[in-house]
Amino acid sequence: MVSSEAAPLAKTGGLADVVGSLPAALRACGDEVAVVIPRYGSVDLKSARRVYDSLPVFLGPTRYVTSIYQAPAEFPCFLVDCPPLYGRKGFYGESGVDYPDNHIRFAVFARAALGVARFLFRAQVLHCHDWQTGLVPAYLQTTFSSDPTFLGVQTLFTIHNLGYQGLFPRTVLPEVALDPAVYKPDGMEFFGHLSYIKGGIAFATALNTVSPTYAREIQTPEYGFGMDGALRARAADLTGILNGADYGVWSPEADALLPAHYSAADLAGKRVVKQHLVAEFGLPEEAMDRPLIGIVSRFTRQKGTDILAEVAGQMVAEGIYLVALGTGDPEYEEFFRGMAAEHPGQIAVRVGFDNRLAHLIEGGADMFLMPSRYEPCGLNQIYSLRYGTVPVVRATGGLDDTIEEGTGFKFREYSGAALLGAVREAARAFGNQDLWREMMVRGMQKDFSWKASAAAYSALYRRLLGGL
Ligand code: ADP
Ligand code: GLC
Repeated sequence: MVSSEAAPLAKTGGLADVVGSLPAALRACGDEVAVVIPRYGSVDLKSARRVYDSLPVFLGPTRYVTSIYQAPAEFPCFLVDCPPLYGRKGFYGESGVDYPDNHIRFAVFARAALGVARFLFRAQVLHCHDWQTGLVPAYLQTTFSSDPTFLGVQTLFTIHNLGYQGLFPRTVLPEVALDPAVYKPDGMEFFGHLSYIKGGIAFATALNTVSPTYAREIQTPEYGFGMDGALRARAADLTGILNGADYGVWSPEADALLPAHYSAADLAGKRVVKQHLVAEFGLPEEAMDRPLIGIVSRFTRQKGTDILAEVAGQMVAEGIYLVALGTGDPEYEEFFRGMAAEHPGQIAVRVGFDNRLAHLIEGGADMFLMPSRYEPCGLNQIYSLRYGTVPVVRATGGLDDTIEEGTGFKFREYSGAALLGAVREAARAFGNQDLWREMMVRGMQKDFSWKASAAAYSALYRRLLGGL
């Protein structure tokens, strides 16, 4: 698997959770899996082994020198080290601004990953994730098309989020040593730009995305980000496979980051966790008996911040409490800070990335809100089900596929009014604690572990290899 993130080493979102947990589940299906990620500045090499010295990557006349480390993990996890390119504070940028050399960073990464596949782990399938790895299938189909090492090697490209495309001026083509033939509408050209995600879409043997509904949605103009035509052209090779949850990490029975534990059979500990959450966020004691909504999210346009902004004041006026943790666009961070300042004691916000707090909110809140404009899969609503934290979600993508009447609340129209309607309905339901507990327990008993989805990936790899 070639990816720009893998938990716990490098994480900004759900991609890391998926790449960090799917390999172990695949092993149970009989597959041997290794993962390759860049070695960012925050990734500690102390316990890693250097397994390849000075792997050169030539992009045209320019030579980049990388070294490959292997981190201790349940499966081989290779780190591509090249301090001038990856040894920085951010993964993709800083303070909301992308690094100007991302085209080079992820071209070198793609080449180095092919180096790993050549020298360290002879994979039959290269499973690539998101735009950062779109050059892997592109290079394989062009530069390396007659290289005997890669003869018969198949590629699967997983789209975790079509909203991030890796768009660069066409003039970078020679800098990243791409065959100019790829620059065409049914290749990597996208409205006068070079699109890395289209490298995956056009050149991978097969494509998938992370829920069945999102697989359908991205083939429509509404959700296609201008790529719906390219995706429809590959409809026969495009499937939707729902993400799974790693219940070893995300379960209230054993969560090492929670101050108390609980289960469907004994919910008492959940109130203790709520108490800690209320104290941590400085909310008043009254919040203990009122509905408390949690949010853990990248603060971006995708996540529905604008419709939340429309109705947050009204929610608060109706006696609902809100805690939010997130980081992202400075503009949205400001909005959340402002909301907390306007409603002190009812809305509390922490801007930043904090895994312990993410677990505390999952465990301590009564409801979990995801009003996403679009959501390829979404993991937090799946975790919320397991924590008895009833999801309130917009019915889109994976949110629609995982939440049903009886386990959560859904609204369809992307509007503040529809969001408020669903929150009100949830708050009303919370008023009847016996029925509410039944709803919590129904959610807690759902099984979204990797078992079924890992089997689907494994079957797909085997199909690509001609039914091996
Ligand atoms: P996305 O990948 O679009 O961000 P997902 O719901 O698939 O959305 O996954 C988000 C993952 O990132 C979850 O594990 C969530 O807990 C975590 N996460 C998001 N923001 C933060 C944050 N500010 N602090 C800690 N964890 C976060
Ligand atoms: C993306 C999506 C999210 C999905 C995650 C993992 O970041 O926004 O919906 O769960 O990838 O596939």
